[in-house]
Amino acid sequence: MASLTIRKLDEGVKTYLRLRSAKNRRSVEEEVRVILRELIEGREEPLAAPAPQQPASSPPATPQRAGALAEASVTLIIGGGIAAYKSLDLIRRLKERRIEVRCVLTKAAQHFVTPLTASALSHERVYTDLFDPQSEFDAGHIRLARDCDLIVVAPATADLMAKMAGGHADDLASAILLATNRKILLAPAMNPLMWSNAATRRNVAQLQRDGVILVGPNAGEMAEAGEAGTGRMAEAIEIAAAADRLLRPPVPRPLAGKRVLITAGPTHEPIDPVRYIANRSSGKQGFAIAAAAQAAGAEVVLVSGPVDLDDPAGVAVKHVESARQMLEQVEASLPVDIAIFAAAVADWRVASEGAQKLKKTAAGMPPLQLVENPDILATISKLKDKRPPLVIGFAAETEHLLDNASAKLTRKGCDWIVANDVSPATGVMGGDRNTVHLLTRKDGAIDVDSWPVMTKDQVAIELVAHIARSLAGKPLETTS
Ligand code: C5P
Repeated sequence: MASLTIRKLDEGVKTYLRLRSAKNRRSVEEEVRVILRELIEGREEPLAAPAPQQPASSPPATPQRAGALAEASVTLIIGGGIAAYKSLDLIRRLKERRIEVRCVLTKAAQHFVTPLTASALSHERVYTDLFDPQSEFDAGHIRLARDCDLIVVAPATADLMAKMAGGHADDLASAILLATNRKILLAPAMNPLMWSNAATRRNVAQLQRDGVILVGPNAGEMAEAGEAGTGRMAEAIEIAAAADRLLRPPVPRPLAGKRVLITAGPTHEPIDPVRYIANRSSGKQGFAIAAAAQAAGAEVVLVSGPVDLDDPAGVAVKHVESARQMLEQVEASLPVDIAIFAAAVADWRVASEGAQKLKKTAAGMPPLQLVENPDILATISKLKDKRPPLVIGFAAETEHLLDNASAKLTRKGCDWIVANDVSPATGVMGGDRNTVHLLTRKDGAIDVDSWPVMTKDQVAIELVAHIARSLAGKPLETTS
């Protein structure tokens, strides 16, 4: 049975999984299980996964190993030193963190631990020999070097480090270290005099210049009676944490500390207790923006009209029906740093809502007198005291998209407009994809940035990225 390493999936698929799992309050791994189960049972949700993208850096590895669904994989090279026994604990610590481990034992390491023990703990075959015909017939050392996300050497002996610094490749461990394009984490372990020896100092300096990362060594008592100093291998838990940091660097949270307000969905304007005026908005784009802003670290308030969507995880959602309720909740949510008005608010409501269900009469149609709803975007854009520093509106148009959107930017007094064509042929209303143009102000003129067709999740991520860039960069050109 093949294993699946989530870290190695396309960026787009990972983003989709992150958003979907956050939405469903599950771990990414659980979400994958649910998707697979639904697929097998033929009741899967349509996969609105963003179009696959190329991974940012190194070429993807080919996971071919047996084992549970892991999030990352490590090739662990165990060198020949008394600290090798701690590497057995390291295997356990890495596996606890859902990291697959494949062990390579040097010849000297086998004096301290056996391949059988390493294999039993890792649940994987253990590799010892460069010239093992069984693994070498498919270039085993190359696979061990590349079919992982990280190489950890623990204990990294003075000899192994010298071989690395010199580029030797006369056994399996050194051949892997020379053939890899993955990051390498070394946990040195040796006698303090060996650690402080000029040759080791030179080798360590060379390895660090080569981009190798070190954890430890720590200071303390040595295995040799009466010896103390720097040279003890870092504890297994420290090495596992260092590996984890390299494998799963902290997710950037560019909107941390920012409060973001978003409106989404339609509004329902009651005619009588059973009828209302509404529009076709699904709320998907606004909800996707709320999820993306939350994932970027913002504190998010989402004021939503009636929609058939689950509340995004970690977002404070205020459910409303009418435009006037939406305005009330928006005003109650101020102050915010960024306000994004994605709701399709009904422009009109009936002047006086019927207290009872209107009946057909011989007199013909009931006279429905309409009055204009408050324009929430314009109201907030024109506030004196509590105007958010960045106000973004949407322009959903069926013709003359950019002209109408530019006019709206000026008329409503917001800073940016996200314009999209919602003519029926585009399938934007209720669909999962969107084609948008971002209108901003540059040097007193309106700048139009047209984006390609994207899923609504991708549009949301891109919009949040634009916001983060503009907060980080030069001051925003706003109307205030
Ligand atoms: O005028 P129009 O409805 O096309 O303007 C669209 C923009 O204005 C959207 O950002 C929408 O959320 C906002 N809007 C609003 N209150 C209204 C009407 C529109 O906030 N009453």
